[in-house]
Amino acid sequence: MISPSVLPADFSKLGEEVAALEAAGVDLIQWDVMDGQFVPNLTFGPDVIKAARRHCSVPFEAHLMVYTPDVMAQDYINAGCSRLIVHAEACTHLHRTCGNINELGAAAAVALNPATPASAVEHVLDLIDMVLVMTVNPGFGGQAYIPTMESKIAEVQRMLEAAGRADDIHIEVDGGIGPSTIAGAAAAGANVLIAGSALYRDPEGLEHAVSDLRARAEAAYV
Ligand code: DX5
Repeated sequence: MISPSVLPADFSKLGEEVAALEAAGVDLIQWDVMDGQFVPNLTFGPDVIKAARRHCSVPFEAHLMVYTPDVMAQDYINAGCSRLIVHAEACTHLHRTCGNINELGAAAAVALNPATPASAVEHVLDLIDMVLVMTVNPGFGGQAYIPTMESKIAEVQRMLEAAGRADDIHIEVDGGIGPSTIAGAAAAGANVLIAGSALYRDPEGLEHAVSDLRARAEAAYV
């Protein structure tokens, strides 16, 4: 699955931008929510996402790069996000946070920063439908892909297989994903690929970028 990060989009017309992303064939849309504390950047609140929701029909997920994601989880779900991604590093009680998201009716996912081991999700696999292996240090788009994360992607894949959850839990990657990096991430086991800059800088446009990335990922995914 190919999902854009809307960080590079034109924020003055997000409704049109998400409609264009849907028309370009994306499978879902990821909103990079940043609180200026967990990461040195500040982006979308739930009202912005809610305003964009009515302009397209693909699923929304919120990548909550925030401390205390429990405080606003309901707001992001009410805004139209069907999955909330929380950072293991930001959650004192990760098991409780994932369980709360499930009780609120959304899918829960856990993101791992580059230095965080795969084992951080070992005891919440029954509560999540996706693990996000960050392939950059979060906070900004346009950063360089960290290839050493491919061994962590493969480790997460092995963990899911050992737990009998490989068919139920997606592996997502985010950061520096583009034509020259997507095959390595997919070959390691990622089946949901987030791209921001690579989509918007394709000279042939969004639709070409989405189909090209999907083809490259499908060719590499085993
Ligand atoms: C990092 C952000 C970025 C963004 C994608 O906090 O999460 O990874 O989604 O950025 P690109 O695709 O431009 O690296």
